[in-house]
Amino acid sequence: MPKPEVKLHYKNVMPDVIGNEHGITPEQLKDLVEKTSPLILRLNKERQGGETPYRDLPYNSEIAQEVKELVEELRGRCENLVVFGIGGSALGNIALQTAMNPYMHNIDDTQRSGPRLFVFDNIDPEQLVSFLDWLDDKLDKTIFNVISKSGWTAETAAQFMIVRQLLLDKLGPDDCKKQIITTTDANQGILRRIANNAGFRSLVIPEGIGGRFSVLSAVGLFSAAMCGIDIDSLLEGARDMDTRVSCEDFYENPAATNAAINYYFYNHGKKISVIMPYSYHLKDLADWYRQLWAESLGKSEDLKGNEVHIGPTPVKALGTTDQHSQVQLYREGPNDKLFTFLQVNNFNKDLEIGPTPDCASELGFLAGKTLGSLLNNEKMATEYALLQDKRPCLTVIFPEVNAYTFGQFIYLYEVTTSFVGALFGINPYDQPAVELGKEATFALMGKPGDEYEKWATEIRALTKIDEKFLV
Ligand code: PA5
Repeated sequence: MPKPEVKLHYKNVMPDVIGNEHGITPEQLKDLVEKTSPLILRLNKERQGGETPYRDLPYNSEIAQEVKELVEELRGRCENLVVFGIGGSALGNIALQTAMNPYMHNIDDTQRSGPRLFVFDNIDPEQLVSFLDWLDDKLDKTIFNVISKSGWTAETAAQFMIVRQLLLDKLGPDDCKKQIITTTDANQGILRRIANNAGFRSLVIPEGIGGRFSVLSAVGLFSAAMCGIDIDSLLEGARDMDTRVSCEDFYENPAATNAAINYYFYNHGKKISVIMPYSYHLKDLADWYRQLWAESLGKSEDLKGNEVHIGPTPVKALGTTDQHSQVQLYREGPNDKLFTFLQVNNFNKDLEIGPTPDCASELGFLAGKTLGSLLNNEKMATEYALLQDKRPCLTVIFPEVNAYTFGQFIYLYEVTTSFVGALFGINPYDQPAVELGKEATFALMGKPGDEYEKWATEIRALTKIDEKFLV
């Protein structure tokens, strides 16, 4: 049987469908192919030269093996797995979990083959207090995976420090050590120092891989494997997509095609990029995509140092929920968006809609149909409605949602991001603007040093609530 392939459908960005004013005309497409094709060669070369190490993650059997061995060791004594991390150290884990495990995974023991999973990618104290109250008598059956590439992120450090103390108080130093797994850089950062000093078990994030490109490393693989997700299939999906996104023929390369289309629309008045999954399982992929797109492509300078302030604004929507919340704007508001739907052809489980009550024969057209067919027909209906208003629409088709197709999608979008970065002429792998906010937080929280003190005073003055402007 052929393997299920994730495909990009792009007919509905063409002028035959949305007209010459909005669609990509054949001449424009030719220009795009000419501009993008050399970048396929460039990206392949950069990858071979080791400049984009995220591209090699699906081939790193050492990481997968280490993860599997640790999972084997821990699974028997772990009823709850708690991930502390933020941004690229959390969003992939959440997306994987939502995609691959049943909706009631954490609640129904019969729907789960491993531990419950809780990913804390925020620091609202009320949320954590409620959770720790529930966890109180279960600490010895709980593993905490603290993930930070830099090892310096205040949110993750704070979560770690709270839980470490709790474990020391409740279980003592020996057992505390057994309950914490760190995932961080091999050599650098304070989390590495802490792990080495305390003797925590530790997984390594390979060098040169930014958070948002790290889900196929131990960052995403550990919690996935703990919760029963088939990480071999996930990596195989990514490898098979690698073959396709390395293809030198533009029309056979889904990442190059996707990137060129996104680039075109950004430069033709559609600076907002809406991703809209029609699948509960894929809903958190939209958050993962949002970070990948925003942090990678939102840049003030190009590679030559010119000021560019570039970057599409990624927006997430969910079908059908947001049909009843956003589509009014999407159809009748400004034509400034490119839509990407995520469609699932075959749902792993489905339900038949029951018969209509006698008094409501008008609903008979729904009876006997499946909920999956309703969902997919709603996607078609929304796309049709948008096309009537000349809104460009792409669809990424999942034959089904499983680890293999999920791995394909992850890799497709990571490489698409590299292509769009190359088309924009920017560096998609750094995030200097995020770093500034991190440092400013350190200053406000009292990190010692003259510079930090001066800075904290300046920030407080600028952000102080001014009574004169309070209404
Ligand atoms: O993509 C990125 O690099 C960021 O979003 C980071 O993942 C995020 O800021 C968390 O950083 P760290 O993993 O260093 O704690």
